Amino acid sequence: MGDNQKTPIIDAVTKYINDWTVRFHMPGHKGAPVMEELIGRLIGNRAFAADVTNVPGMDDLHQAQSVIKEAQELAAGAFGADHTYFLVNGSSCGLQALIMGVCGPGDRILVPRNMHRSILSGIILAGAVPIFYRPEYDRHFAIPLSTSPETIEYYTSLHPDIKAVVLVSPTYHGIVSNISAISRITHRMNIPLLVDEAHGPHLRFHEELPRPSLDEGADAAVQGTHKMLSALTQASMLHIKGNMVDRYRVEAALRLLQSTSTSYLLLSSLDAARAQMASCGRELLQESLELALYLKKGIRALGGGFPS
Ligand SMILES: Cc1ncc(COP(=O)(O)O)c(C=O)c1O
Repeated sequence: MGDNQKTPIIDAVTKYINDWTVRFHMPGHKGAPVMEELIGRLIGNRAFAADVTNVPGMDDLHQAQSVIKEAQELAAGAFGADHTYFLVNGSSCGLQALIMGVCGPGDRILVPRNMHRSILSGIILAGAVPIFYRPEYDRHFAIPLSTSPETIEYYTSLHPDIKAVVLVSPTYHGIVSNISAISRITHRMNIPLLVDEAHGPHLRFHEELPRPSLDEGADAAVQGTHKMLSALTQASMLHIKGNMVDRYRVEAALRLLQSTSTSYLLLSSLDAARAQMASCGRELLQESLELALYLKKGIRALGGGFPS
């Protein structure tokens, strides 16, 4: 079996179930739905069996040493990172941890007006001071577009004391920025470029898509594995590349922000989403691209001015 098909967390949970371990631990349902006719009917009894906790053999997200560590390393390889952290509180907690990792009280950070609220809450938690910039804006569709390197050049020259630059790329509408040019600006200043890539975890798996931010020079990216790939809701990943972001500070922030009772359903779904993309992501995206083109042609045939 190649590394792509490996699923260390899923294997550990499966073994735990198959060993018929008697559960003297949390969660209180002990592996079976109490109101089976209600909740079991909805999500299946197996979901309760797989809902284990960090007992021996299952590792611990806050101090990963075995199966979670291995799954995170496989994810780092697949997504082009040096270090990957599984998140069970959405991309929100990854963005908060990144900001707390690079800013302390009173530090200034350059952030876009179209940022997600979690970036603002990260700034509040860090006690940092936001400096806002505006991405381009499309008046016709009333949506934010990309951020130009010139915009970042301008704001960084006005605020040379900032500790980091945050970008949203792709945006909710799929628009990417020129990460490589922007990262050259931030690296010249010796500060990290942090990318909210909640809508871009798929980019690395098809050559016709824009390149993912980490491959283009970003120092850290947070990806919504549950948004664009197939993980369960709330399951996301934080990736760090290079040494511009102090990963130990980010890890400390993650310990502040994430539950100690980590859901193995969420973790298993991250393991599966990575395995899926690493082994057949390109084919799946090829199909999606063809369907998107088909849809686009169909809509254009209706008339009404679809942008090319
Ligand atoms: C651009 C962007 N960043 C971050 C988030 C937060 O992600 P999550 O809902 O996984 O916490 C969202 C959620 O909608 C988003 O659209």
